[in-house]
Amino acid sequence: MRVLVTGGAGYVGSHCVRALCDDGVDVVVFDSLAAGHREAVDTRATLIVGDLADAGLVDSTLAGGGYDAVMHFAALADVGESVREPLKYYKNNVGATLTLLGQMRDHGVKSFVFSSTCAVYGIPSSVPIAEGTPRKPISPYGRSKLAIEWALEDCAKAWGLAATSLRYFNAAGAALDGSIGEDHDPETHLIPLVLQVAAGKREEIKIFGVDYPTPDGSCVRDYVHVADLANVHRKALETQVEGAFRFYNVGSGVGVSVKDLIEKARAVTGKDIPAAPAPRRAGDPPELYADPTKAMAELGWQPEFSDIKKTLETAWQWHQSHPSGFSS
Ligand code: UFG
Repeated sequence: MRVLVTGGAGYVGSHCVRALCDDGVDVVVFDSLAAGHREAVDTRATLIVGDLADAGLVDSTLAGGGYDAVMHFAALADVGESVREPLKYYKNNVGATLTLLGQMRDHGVKSFVFSSTCAVYGIPSSVPIAEGTPRKPISPYGRSKLAIEWALEDCAKAWGLAATSLRYFNAAGAALDGSIGEDHDPETHLIPLVLQVAAGKREEIKIFGVDYPTPDGSCVRDYVHVADLANVHRKALETQVEGAFRFYNVGSGVGVSVKDLIEKARAVTGKDIPAAPAPRRAGDPPELYADPTKAMAELGWQPEFSDIKKTLETAWQWHQSHPSGFSS
C-alpha cells in the first residue's frame, strides 16, 4: 500500500508516518516544513518539500504516484491566530484541501483520512462529547475544519470517496523511545509550556481562568496520546468504506483540569512548577472531553493512554532529551 501523508513532518503526522512505516506501508510525506521538522520524518519515508498551495506540485505528485490513499494532516491549527487572521485559515485549511481533493478525484485516489478537531463542536451543552453533538464551531479554525467535513460528505456521495474524519481532542505526549515529540514555534500548548517551566526555561505557568464552572475552576480537556492517535489512523485506513463519510471523536475519554495537570506534572518531573492564575483566554470552552465509544466500537480502536501521568512521562522524556526541540 502507498500513502501520501500531507503534514507528515508535523507533530501528529510524524507519529502516524512512523506507525505506517512500521506496518510496511510505502509512505510519501508532503510537507512545507513551515511548521514541521525534517528530523521528525521517518527515514523509511520519502519526503517531498512543498506547499499544498502549489497546485502544480500536488498534481505532479499524485499523477505518477500510484497512491491508494491520502492522509491529510497539513493545516494551520492556532485557534487564536485564526480569530485574528481568518482568511489565512480559510485559504490554507479549506482552499488547499479542496484543491487536493479535486486532484485526488482526477487521479483516481479515493481514500482520505482527515485530521479534524473537537473544535467543530464549539461549546457543547454537555460532556462527554459524542458525535451526535451539534457542530457549532466558535472559531475560524473550527469552521475551516467543519467546512471540509461538509465537502467530504458531499464527495463521498458524488464520486465514491472513502472519507474518515478524526476529530482529535488535545494531542499530547511523545514517542515511547523519546525520538519524536512536540516542537512548536511559538509554543502555545499547555503541556509543553508546563514542562518548560519544570525544565527551568520559563518562570511560571499561567492558568488561563480559575473561575470556570468546573470542579476546580480551571478548564477541563481530554489529552489523547499521539501513539493512540497514530493507531486510530491505522484503523481508519484499514476500514475505509467506498462512498462513505465516517466521523469519530478521538480522545482518551478522560477530562483533566489545568490545575490537575500541573499537579500531575509536578509528580512526574519532581519539580516545583510555579503556577499563577491569569485571566481567561478568549475562545476557550470550559470543558471538553470525548465519548470515544464510537471509534472503539466501529474501528476496533482502544486508547492505551488514559492515565495523564503516563502521557506526561513520555512528554517529559522527550523534553529532557530534546531541550530545544528537534534542533537540540
Ligand atoms: N492553558 C493555560 N495556560 C497556558 C496554555 C494553556 O491555562 O499557558 C489552558 C488553556 O486555557 C486550555 C488548556 O490549557 O484550557 C489547553 O490549552 P492548549 O492551548 O494546550 O489546547 P487547546 O485546548 O486550546 O487546543 C485544543 C487543540 C485545538 C482545538 C482546541 C479546541 O489543540 O486544535 O483544543 O478548543 F481546536
